[in-house]
Amino acid sequence: MTQRKGLILAGGTGSRLWPITQGLSKQLMPIYDKPMIYYPLSVLMLAGIREIGIITTPEDQAQFRNLMGDGSQWGLAIEWLVQPSPDGLAQAYLIAEDFLDGAPSAMVLGDNIFFGHGLPELLASADQGSGGTVFGYRVSDPERYGVVGMDTDGAVTQIVEKPAQPPSNYAVTGLYFLDGSAPNRARGITPSARGELEITALLETYLADGTLNVERMGRGYAWLDTGTHASLLEAGNFVRTLQSRQGMQTGCPEEIAYQSGWIDQAALLTLADRYAKTEYGAYLRGLI
Ligand code: G1P
Repeated sequence: MTQRKGLILAGGTGSRLWPITQGLSKQLMPIYDKPMIYYPLSVLMLAGIREIGIITTPEDQAQFRNLMGDGSQWGLAIEWLVQPSPDGLAQAYLIAEDFLDGAPSAMVLGDNIFFGHGLPELLASADQGSGGTVFGYRVSDPERYGVVGMDTDGAVTQIVEKPAQPPSNYAVTGLYFLDGSAPNRARGITPSARGELEITALLETYLADGTLNVERMGRGYAWLDTGTHASLLEAGNFVRTLQSRQGMQTGCPEEIAYQSGWIDQAALLTLADRYAKTEYGAYLRGLI
């Protein structure tokens, strides 16, 4: 079993999705039949991670806790952490320092949705890596993201946040496997021009040490954006299309917990009964 602990960053004001996220956290918005945070949570679970710290704003935390509790229903141990103000993604490592307690981590942003055959294997390989590992995904609009520059051998040469002139089409997805030194490194970086502790600044410290790896997520993967009203709807439609065609769920914590042997049949049935009025409940029942 991995020693790596998980982090989900689910803070922020969601201002790009106002008014829908004015009264409810963005990461609780529906992506078809599940709250958004179930999808990044599932990624950590697929990586075999069971100790997970979830970082929210102080105002939104009660609603997240109502939804997910202490995680024991899924065989997880969830610790709840607070980000008082959204001062950058790298701040998560300062907030989570005590929780991580020197362990390596996998942090996923609460609004990032991944889908792809071979994802568990890709995650397992990142788990074995040392230093830092990020995932590069080809997009048509790299200027909206952190972007990696690579040499002809595919080695990272630079990493830049939202560049006007992107060095490549490879965006850095919101999934970061970092070693136990991440909190210490985060303490050493200074806020950017927009006043944030940028994740790219933290990653640059690994790059400077020659310990930053980039795994490319190829064309068989979907990395979905939920940053605009249109892309939020598209993500929901994607999940709906996939699920109704295959008759299988994506981003279903109950299923991953059961298949991983973290909960038994009786526990799964209890969860299924809770959702007895929905197709989701019927699906869980059908797993047995
Ligand atoms: C953040 C990161 C960026 C990364 C992106 C992935 O950007 O700063 O490097 O590519 O998440 O979702 P944000 O979405 O907060 O603007």
